[in-house]
Amino acid sequence: MPFLRERSGRWSALKIIAFVAALLPASWIAYQAAAGELGARPVTEAIHQAGDWALRFLLITLAITPAQRIFAYPRLVLARRTLGVASAGYALLHFSLYILDQHFDIFKVASEIVLRIYLTIGALGLAGLIVLASTSTDAAISRLGSGRWHAIHRFVYAIAVVAVVHFFIQSKLNTYQPVLMAGFLIWLLAYRALYRRNGEVSPLHLVMLAIGAAVVTAVGEAILYLLTSGVDARLVLLAHFDLDMEVRPAWWVLAAGLAVAGAGFWRQKRARQRPRAPRISRGAVSGAIQVQSGS
Ligand code: HEM
Repeated sequence: MPFLRERSGRWSALKIIAFVAALLPASWIAYQAAAGELGARPVTEAIHQAGDWALRFLLITLAITPAQRIFAYPRLVLARRTLGVASAGYALLHFSLYILDQHFDIFKVASEIVLRIYLTIGALGLAGLIVLASTSTDAAISRLGSGRWHAIHRFVYAIAVVAVVHFFIQSKLNTYQPVLMAGFLIWLLAYRALYRRNGEVSPLHLVMLAIGAAVVTAVGEAILYLLTSGVDARLVLLAHFDLDMEVRPAWWVLAAGLAVAGAGFWRQKRARQRPRAPRISRGAVSGAIQVQSGS
């Protein structure tokens, strides 16, 4: 398919929007670098921002298929490839900045990747994203064939898990963002499992999915605190209801999930309200057949 165009050759608004959206964070990082606004350790800050966007674009890419189905908008698929390639692009930028941070000492970079588990995991994720991006061209898709292409691209879920684990391990003290990203990923994985089992996911299922993903996120966060800092898991769970505390990630997962379920209900209602095609009486049909056959 030509760049930013549909198969028919027409410009695709969705592809253009996805492309511009993909460039915005990079432009923002470049602007902050040029204006000296990246703080005391600009390269480290740029590494963090690029890593964040690699993961965000990955999760947004995974959200395209559920969104297509829930909003009954199949054209959304036009944006998917651009968003997926954007994730790989930001992961490459992230890695390149890490090499810059190590003063281009490739041996040091390689040994760090081998010795530090979170870097080894990150490297696995990066390798996976590069494979997916390089097999996303029209030529690669037709060379591989649909079956093999889908088999390879199914690994995108494993790559997302790997990326979230990398995020967790490097976070040290503040695990708010990794827990949030893990919560969204849990929703995406559970949606996929439900769809594969039932063939469709009703708005009511989406409500249960939102609640389930939020509960797993909250319990997961409590267990994480217990294992990493020995904090009583019950206190972390109670903190979810403490209005003086920061809104916990599980609430955002619930809010996003319920918003999606609300959209599902709205779409279902609209589909029911849509005027049906006028019924044609049996007599009229037989009359039409007679006219067509000339009898
Ligand atoms: C060879 C591959 C990779 C290397 C060498 C690498 C290296 C790093 C480093 C050095 C950090 C900062 C750690 C710190 O400051 O203590 C980091 C953080 C991070 N990385 Fe990676 N990474 C790799 C791959 C990936 C991939 C594939 C993704 C996502 C798809 C990713 C997402 C992140 C995220 C989200 C953060 C945290 C950013 C933040 O704290 O805001 N990384 N990585």
